[in-house]
Amino acid sequence: MSLSVVVLISGSGSNLQALIDQSLKGKLDITIKAVISNKADAFGLARAVQANVPTKFINHKDFSTREEFDSELQKAIDQHQPDLVVLAGFMRILTEGFTRHYDGKMLNIHPSLLPKYKGLNTHQRAIDANENEHGVSVHFVSAELDAGAVIIQAATEIAENDTADSLSKKIHTLEHTIYPLAIKWISEKRLAYASGKVMLDSELLPETGIRYHQDLN
Ligand code: GRF
Repeated sequence: MSLSVVVLISGSGSNLQALIDQSLKGKLDITIKAVISNKADAFGLARAVQANVPTKFINHKDFSTREEFDSELQKAIDQHQPDLVVLAGFMRILTEGFTRHYDGKMLNIHPSLLPKYKGLNTHQRAIDANENEHGVSVHFVSAELDAGAVIIQAATEIAENDTADSLSKKIHTLEHTIYPLAIKWISEKRLAYASGKVMLDSELLPETGIRYHQDLN
């Protein structure tokens, strides 16, 4: 049976688009039940509408505490009873209760080779630190920001003339490959998660997850 998914966004939604495209091509067996945004003008909402996916906007500014917003968000998500919640550029810090509710059922994509560069401005920080490479990680969401168990990472070299912008473009291309791949493994029941550990095809993954290479499928 198709994996049912709710996607949370705040912006452009190019990762959402990658999921929609892979699913339309029959390469990813998911049903996106809803796309929820905390920004009314998130372009990802238009992408969802275009793909006939129901959308919802919940303005975090309408709530005086994080708990109240997260509780409303939780209600909106749980109405669809998804197998998986996918954070795709959802720019909110989540409460512990919310993350616990979706333990092992919520993924995020973070533009760095975790555990390096948690938080924001990762591309510029990697350049400023004279790193040779930079990348992106797909991980389960835990209460601590960008600290949950990593499933897969993809890396690219940082060229001498790279800027935060050029690096961001390269990383986005990698994102559009590894996020659908991680979700495919879940839909195929090849990925198992328990107590902060991830197994792929019954093999325990290292703390930095599996490193993407072209033969992975
Ligand atoms: C990506 O860089 C992702 O790694 C980060 O937010 C950005 C979302 O991009 N979490 P998009 O909205 O999917 O284009």
